[in-house]
Amino acid sequence: MKLFIDSANLDEIRDAASWGTISGVTTNPTLLAKDNHGDVQKVIQEIAGLVPNGPISVEVVSEDAKGMIEEGVKFSKWAENIAVKVPMTKEGMKAVRYFTDNGIDTNVTLVFSANQALLAAAAGATFISSFVGRVDDIGFDGMGIIEEVANIIGIHAMDSQVLAASIRHPLHVTQAATAGADIATIPYKVLQQMYLHPLTEKGVAAFKADWDKLQSGMLAV
Ligand code: G3P
Repeated sequence: MKLFIDSANLDEIRDAASWGTISGVTTNPTLLAKDNHGDVQKVIQEIAGLVPNGPISVEVVSEDAKGMIEEGVKFSKWAENIAVKVPMTKEGMKAVRYFTDNGIDTNVTLVFSANQALLAAAAGATFISSFVGRVDDIGFDGMGIIEEVANIIGIHAMDSQVLAASIRHPLHVTQAATAGADIATIPYKVLQQMYLHPLTEKGVAAFKADWDKLQSGMLAV
């Protein structure tokens, strides 16, 4: 499973990209607004430079296919590695079909059911963002949808990649990997948490302490 970072914060993305474990970036209007990015093109182009080999998802905000297509074509010219993020609506799928037929990668977002994922795959979506946390937040099984969608895509050998989105904690990442997601897009804070385990920290300290003793000749012969 590939790991993307779900962020529009340049410092977070720069740091995460330095770890050698991130394969892409997803943004959305809320993330862009959170970091008060007035010049979206500028920040997206900076992000595309920080993760040059990975897809950078940029979301359209028009409600009709014509507007989405105009936005997406514009986004696709900002960098080589742009994926146009499109909401799971009828107008959105019309736009995804256009992008598919014109060689522009897409990330269909705000997917909350297997049938919505099927429609996105039928339109040729490159990535299907099935939201986990927001489903859990209302008391239903967000990860169960990931498993369902991954099974359907696999059974029918469909080309779309299943992207687990709306990740809330490290266990969601583990569960997404075991549920068969191709990608998880993860907030910076959760990415950092994934590295941590008390036994690792304890083991590193113990190895260092014993090495230092060895260097100083303190170990009993
Ligand atoms: O960016 C798409 C998705 O990961 C955002 O989910 O629930 O954190 O807003 P959420």
